[in-house]
Amino acid sequence: MSLELTIENKVAWIRLNRPEKLNALSQDLFTQLDSLLSKIEPQKDIRALVITGDERAFAAGADIEPMAEAGIRDVCEMTDNTMRVQERLASIPIPTIAAISGYCLGGGLELALCCDFRIATKTAVIGLPEITLGIIPGGGGTQRLPRLIGKGPALKLIMLGNHIYVDEAFKIGIVDQVVKTDLLIRSVETFTRKLAKQPAVALRAAKAAVNNGLSVSLQQGLQMEKDLFCMLFGTFDQKEGMKAFLEKRKPSYQGK
Ligand code: COA
Repeated sequence: MSLELTIENKVAWIRLNRPEKLNALSQDLFTQLDSLLSKIEPQKDIRALVITGDERAFAAGADIEPMAEAGIRDVCEMTDNTMRVQERLASIPIPTIAAISGYCLGGGLELALCCDFRIATKTAVIGLPEITLGIIPGGGGTQRLPRLIGKGPALKLIMLGNHIYVDEAFKIGIVDQVVKTDLLIRSVETFTRKLAKQPAVALRAAKAAVNNGLSVSLQQGLQMEKDLFCMLFGTFDQKEGMKAFLEKRKPSYQGK
């Protein structure tokens, strides 16, 4: 099994576990990810999802071996499958975090870009080296990266194909937080604990508004925001949050 799922303190952790290939992402791994998402999605008490690798690699890219001899039709099928599972991950209605140590290259970075946040250690090495193999990123890299960091910095990474270190990745906005190597898990736990304290329906609405808003016109996005904003006034947590503020106490959210 190249993926391991554990659920602790209302947080699901998926660990990529193919160390001998630096967690290179095979189609089998995407099939496993698909079925783990099916397990996680119905569990309404899970408040966040973390994807991580090991100390040496988050993932060093899509598995090059089966691609090396693939023809156009084969690669189209593989890519359809990869993109379907990635889209499922990107739109899961709970916050998602890529906890990155070591190599996070190609498909590894594309997987991390499907998450809402990227927390990385000082050892992280980030890049989209596909151009050096005669191809372009085919797992969302040419679309999700420029939406995150803008066209110029994204094209620079895609066209040069070079690796960058975590400080630069943080500076250009790929990585949200840099932590000491031995503090990765603890830092992610602290972050997910904070997320878990937030009102769950509002968290879902925030994710939907931001993610869906990026692919529609400003007018459509504003309308969507208004609909979600108004919907929240029908929740227990909105009443509780505002009442608690006025009563000068901490809110006690129920996620409804
Ligand atoms: N696909 C398939 N296998 C991969 C892989 C990938 N994306 N990345 C690493 N591996 C395998 C290597 O082939 C090697 O296998 P082997 O021991 O059977 O020969 C093993 O993982 C260890 O990698 P190795 O290259 O020996 O480690 P390194 O420390 O010398 O280099 C990297 C690490 C990440 C710089 C190097 O492995 C690399 O460039 N990988 C490919 C990155 C890439 O182009 N990703 C985009 C793919 S579309």
